[in-house]
Amino acid sequence: MTDAAPDSHYTLERPEEAVDPQSIYRDLRDNTPVVQLSGRSTTGTLTISRHEDVMRALRTPELFSSDSSAVQIGNTRPLVPLQVDPPHHSKHRKALDPLFAPKQMVKYEPRVRELIRELIDDVADNGHCNFHNDIAEPLPSTIFVELLGLPVSRVNEFLALKDGIIRPPARSLEERYEMVKATGQKIYAVLEEVVEARMEERQDDFLSTIIDAKVDGQPLSRDDVVDIGYLFFLAGLDTVSASLDCIVAYLAQNPDHRQRVADDPAIIPHAIEELLRYESPVPIVPRITTADTEMSGCPIAEGSRITVLLGSANTDERVWDNPDQVDFDRESNKHLGFGGGVHRCLGSHLARMELRVALEEWHARVPDYRLADGLELRYSPGIRQVDNLELVW
Ligand code: HEM
Repeated sequence: MTDAAPDSHYTLERPEEAVDPQSIYRDLRDNTPVVQLSGRSTTGTLTISRHEDVMRALRTPELFSSDSSAVQIGNTRPLVPLQVDPPHHSKHRKALDPLFAPKQMVKYEPRVRELIRELIDDVADNGHCNFHNDIAEPLPSTIFVELLGLPVSRVNEFLALKDGIIRPPARSLEERYEMVKATGQKIYAVLEEVVEARMEERQDDFLSTIIDAKVDGQPLSRDDVVDIGYLFFLAGLDTVSASLDCIVAYLAQNPDHRQRVADDPAIIPHAIEELLRYESPVPIVPRITTADTEMSGCPIAEGSRITVLLGSANTDERVWDNPDQVDFDRESNKHLGFGGGVHRCLGSHLARMELRVALEEWHARVPDYRLADGLELRYSPGIRQVDNLELVW
């Protein structure tokens, strides 16, 4: 073992860093593979960037726990199943996996196609739109609110709540903490109200199915259902929008790639996987160590909070050929855009279906688009969303 983790001037939170995170990832992997970044959310954590170390953190949950001491996002009880470690974790996954199975997605696809067509109808003749506001945000959030069983008329309120957790507009750490805590209480209140109503009367939605699910032969408590709903609320309302932003922003700036997608819709599933790898819209996941260990020669003490850089593992030249080249024909693409190990994304089939249908429909109607003149893209830190994605065609 060598010295303790060095400090770094990188934060991975400044807008200028978010434009080209891949070059920062490379510098971290090559020079400081275990490091203390100086960002608001990364301060006090050790950031790991090499594919080998990231895989070990994801695949050794008994040493790299994701329990609620790893991170809190306004929740006062563990998020289920993300903040439940094995062996209990698999019992929850067994109950939840059927909701998101590929055969279920076939059922939801017509509704996704209908909605994206309506959204495109509203902008196609204008010659311009803000892709984030007009398409990337309303599509997955409306679908997810419908699936979960929350009132669709309140979707804007829910979007503001999840942004209050994921992107709180606060300046100081204390302000941020208070804002996230207060927003978390509001999300609990929304979910408690809807779960109570579904306990009285079931409907054809995820919350009703979860209420009737059994874990270890026992029904879930009201709090269990709310804790699952809280995680779904954050995961389902944000990640697909951010991924659509990242993918379309890339295509708008790379005409050859965009043209290929427009000319050959069969390439779209490959384009999605490759851009989830390269862009890594969810670049970071948190863990906490349960014992002393080491990584890349650096000692790591029990109780260390770890920032696991999925985005860096996805571009590590130690395992990828030409990682900085976006190649839709890559033979094998075992990227970590959906995480890895036991907590690998529960919603990946839903996400892939929504992304595919959105890209198919968009390119069928608007094949030739680019960024508005003079637009400088700003990616949000953490989950990489592009609020201002002005396109012209
Ligand atoms: C392209 C969109 C998405 C991306 C990139 C994404 C990414 C991820 C990642 C990286 C993880 C691992 C977290 C960790 O290990 O700490 C994860 C877990 C999870 N995701 Fe997603 N996600 C997406 C869409 C969704 C959707 C639509 C849902 C729907 C509810 C969802 C639900 C979940 C859940 C419940 C977990 C925790 C699974 C567990 O702990 O067993 N995700 N996701």
